[in-house]
Amino acid sequence: MEAIEIIGTGSYVPPLVVNNRDLSKIVDTSDEWISSRTGIKKRRISEGENTSDLGAKAAINALKNANIEALDLDLIIVSTISPDQFMPSTACLIQDKIGAKNAVCFDISAACSGFVYGIEIATNLMNGGKYQKALVIGAEVLSKILDWKDRSTCVLFGDGAGAAILSFGPGKGILHTKLGSDSEKWESLTCKSMALENPYLKEDVIKKEKNSNLKIAMNGKDIFKFAVNIIKLCIQEILEETGYNIEDIKYVVPHQANLRIIEFAAKKLGVDVEKFYMNLSEYGNTSGASVPIALDEMNRKGLLKKGDKIILVAFGGGLTYGCSLIEW
Ligand code: UT7
Repeated sequence: MEAIEIIGTGSYVPPLVVNNRDLSKIVDTSDEWISSRTGIKKRRISEGENTSDLGAKAAINALKNANIEALDLDLIIVSTISPDQFMPSTACLIQDKIGAKNAVCFDISAACSGFVYGIEIATNLMNGGKYQKALVIGAEVLSKILDWKDRSTCVLFGDGAGAAILSFGPGKGILHTKLGSDSEKWESLTCKSMALENPYLKEDVIKKEKNSNLKIAMNGKDIFKFAVNIIKLCIQEILEETGYNIEDIKYVVPHQANLRIIEFAAKKLGVDVEKFYMNLSEYGNTSGASVPIALDEMNRKGLLKKGDKIILVAFGGGLTYGCSLIEW
């Protein structure tokens, strides 16, 4: 029986590179603080491209890599927390930009875990028999939802998009995906939507809504602890459920949030941190785009050989988490 494989990857980041020293000119921070606490050195920031622009460019690169046409796609799923607009979905805007007229398109909201959520949704829809070729994209222009006066968040994030094309093939492909959500700590990582507004609002609500912050707000320590534990748990559980050992896994591709989170998680698992692919020093945290950008970079560097087993693992706002075990 044929399995669902990743037949192509692509990514795109805006050209403007903003390094830590650049940021120290706009908030009270330093290269030393950002590098030592996070491992991040640079990030890309949009000078005018929106989320669907980045996503469309990543999609075109993935189509080229898969050697298929946009018209071959019958499903486009975009994970984003920074859509161009509430409506239409970013997936529909990307469909228009790349000319994928035959695809069913929708967005999902699972923050930094969104690409792994997208993989799970796409594989289940495809296994249902109605879809043959899916494009899963993580795309973010986080710079527009950052509070550029808040040094505890604005130094962490960057803009970018990554994409993967899924199709049926003879290999083992996507072996297993596990998702989870833990909303007990949802307030640790938020970005509010438009304020409530209508002619019937109560006085106290109007006051509260006026003061609401529509930018990313975070309790870093809560997320840090959650992330270290959940990376370890997710990897242990997916290995247990598939019958593989960590030694069978060539690379773990983690959400690129913080070098120290990944180092701690590797230590807890008793695994050499070298097994974890990282590019966060270059791009910072690009939320749902971070895993597919890393995957595409690995693919283009020729690091992934046929038969290699890899684990994608991510965590983020929700709080959500997920991992996927893939045979390349
Ligand atoms: O996709 C998931 C998204 N979220 C994450 O991945 C975040 C996970 N958490 C983290 O990565 C870390 O908690 C941070 C990097 C956000 C913060 O590191 P920390 O070691 O937990 O620092 P902290 O929040 O305890 O802050 C330590 C100090 C504070 O000063 P005081 O109170 O000790 O005087 C902060 O005000 O560092 C200060 N600080 C900064 N200083 C210079 C916070 N941000 C900065 C900054 N530059 N950018």
